[in-house]
Amino acid sequence: MTRTPVTVTVTGAAGQIGYALLFRIASGQLLGPDVPVRLRLLEIPQAVKAAEGTAMELDDCAFPLLAGTDIFDDPNQAFQGANVALLVGARPRTKGMERGDLLEANGGIFKPQGEAINAGAADDVKVLVVGNPANTNALIAQQHAPDVPAERFTAMTRLDHNRALAQLSKKAGVSVADIRRMTIWGNHSATQYPDLFHAEIAGKSAAETVNDKSWLENDFIPTVAKRGAAIIEARGASSAASAASAAIDHVHTWVNGTADGDWTSMAVVSDGSYGVPEGLISSFPVTTKDGKWEIVQGLEIDDFSRARIDASVNELAEERDAVRKLGLI
Ligand code: NAD
Ligand code: LMR
Repeated sequence: MTRTPVTVTVTGAAGQIGYALLFRIASGQLLGPDVPVRLRLLEIPQAVKAAEGTAMELDDCAFPLLAGTDIFDDPNQAFQGANVALLVGARPRTKGMERGDLLEANGGIFKPQGEAINAGAADDVKVLVVGNPANTNALIAQQHAPDVPAERFTAMTRLDHNRALAQLSKKAGVSVADIRRMTIWGNHSATQYPDLFHAEIAGKSAAETVNDKSWLENDFIPTVAKRGAAIIEARGASSAASAASAAIDHVHTWVNGTADGDWTSMAVVSDGSYGVPEGLISSFPVTTKDGKWEIVQGLEIDDFSRARIDASVNELAEERDAVRKLGLI
């Protein structure tokens, strides 16, 4: 193998998402079956030993694509040379907690990580923030990395996107492969807006095909938006394997491109499209090509969708104002 390994930094490596994610990265599912990877894992000192155990298991898988695993408790070392940075480590929401409660606890983690990415990551670094509140954590990290182009900081709404695909496929009795152009707008929170009006089943409008406004409004939207809480209620812990799977999908699509005629959902820095204030990291329909994303333009937004997009975007603006007040940006 002659290709230089791609350096992938993963924070929170000893956590439950980390455990579901690392083996898939090392097996080639993140970047492709012919791309060797070098893992740099970041953990807090108390969890380094557990991360070492995971690294032993990675060794034991004898993945041909894995060029090595290093473990750090210092962000400056962990992000050194990172081409891809998966910011997973954070305090997960537990029963009864809302994301707003997490802002202060987690905000402090993402400032030094943004600074470390700015100082030492590779010039082409791509950042995905998974740790909640993901959009605002991504904003904090991005604001502390002034030398990295803002568009390289993204947050994960691909899990919500995949949840929406699954719910729609069940309702319509079709395969997820028959669905295109699903969109999650706004925040990765219960205010998010999963949009069926632009989604298509076998090339036809999903909303028209389903033709059930009550299901769309009273079942589909709340089921998708509150799925994270439902998983916590059922499992007693937040989603892990599905979150890891969505992180793999997010980066894979970013690097390898969306299919012709399709798009995906990513939380990206707004350029003011669709009335989302510039600078907020909000979920949009995006296409990707050659490692770059673009917000899909020109979609018609009716009053029903407008109200829901605005509610979620207002929440993002409130989170931004809250972290500003805390001096985190
Ligand atoms: P977990 O508690 O199992 O693991 C988190 C890990 O992060 C722990 O090992 C902890 O030691 C580590 N950590 C804490 N602070 C750190 C720091 N400063 N640097 C490096 N590592 C640090 O949690 P989990 O279930 O793996 O979830 C991780 C995060 O992902 C949570 O915030 C959770 O809410 C979020 N999440 C997001 C989505 C999404 O769709 N965006 C989905 C599921 C979970
Ligand atoms: C999820 O969507 O499963 C996670 O973000 C967990 C949560 O806190 O909702």
